[in-house]
Amino acid sequence: MNPQHIELVKSTVPVLRENGVALTSYFYQRMLNNNPELKNIFNLDSQNSGRQPRALAAAVLAYAENIENPSVLAKAIEHISTKHVSLNIQPEQYAIVGDNLLHSISEVLNVPFESDLIAAWKEAYLQLADILINAEKQKYHHLTAQTGGWAGWRGFEISAISDNGISKIFTVKASDAQAIITTSTPQKISVKVKIPQQELEQPHQFIALPSTDGEYQFEVKAEENHTEYSVPNILLQHYQIGDQVLLSAPQIK
Ligand code: HEM
Repeated sequence: MNPQHIELVKSTVPVLRENGVALTSYFYQRMLNNNPELKNIFNLDSQNSGRQPRALAAAVLAYAENIENPSVLAKAIEHISTKHVSLNIQPEQYAIVGDNLLHSISEVLNVPFESDLIAAWKEAYLQLADILINAEKQKYHHLTAQTGGWAGWRGFEISAISDNGISKIFTVKASDAQAIITTSTPQKISVKVKIPQQELEQPHQFIALPSTDGEYQFEVKAEENHTEYSVPNILLQHYQIGDQVLLSAPQIK
């Protein structure tokens, strides 16, 4: 990026931050209207919706502020890319997010889309997207290279459900009966379920206990005051032994 573009981007960060809610809600609504397939990966539960696009927009602003020294954001990049990999985010989706984010910035700042300012923001976004795409590529590669590893979603069958009165422990085994990554400590996994009576899926992160005999176990607790998109509630109310769910791989460092 040339110094002029860097200055343009940095000078607009405070205004965008002040209008954070407008930026977020406009961005999120626009993106899900134009690309309804993304409803299968973003959280639609009204208790949580807004949190992740806010986090996304905040991360882009933080990046823009530190654009001359992106290394300060290394920790954030590690965190975001781990989350993205657990949701099977793909490089081509960055164009969709970028387009919607840039339109939202243009709207919030009230500047034409075809302007120097938006061109500068586009460069900044592409720079950040490139860093994340590369970090995620390495993680997908690392996952597939492990024994029993996989990238993206893999079918698992519920092999047992035990009820301890407060929560239920779901045990799952790979539907393809092949090896799974062995874990010796609790690890985050994403579980994707079908929303009953809708052509939609939703993911949710659970903590899987250390694996035993080629199976993972995770605890599911009911969520109060959540919508029909609460994955824990769907699992508890609609899923039985023998049903299939999708899992992304535990990411062991
Ligand atoms: C430069 C571009 C991007 C940035 C800076 C970014 C940043 C973030 C951040 C900060 C989070 C929150 C992490 C957390 O849970 O603490 C997040 C989560 C997420 N991102 Fe991205 N992201 C970008 C691109 C994308 C793309 C291309 C997609 C796919 C369409 C995507 C989908 C998601 C989803 C689904 C979540 C999880 C939301 C949840 O918690 O349910 N992101 N991202």
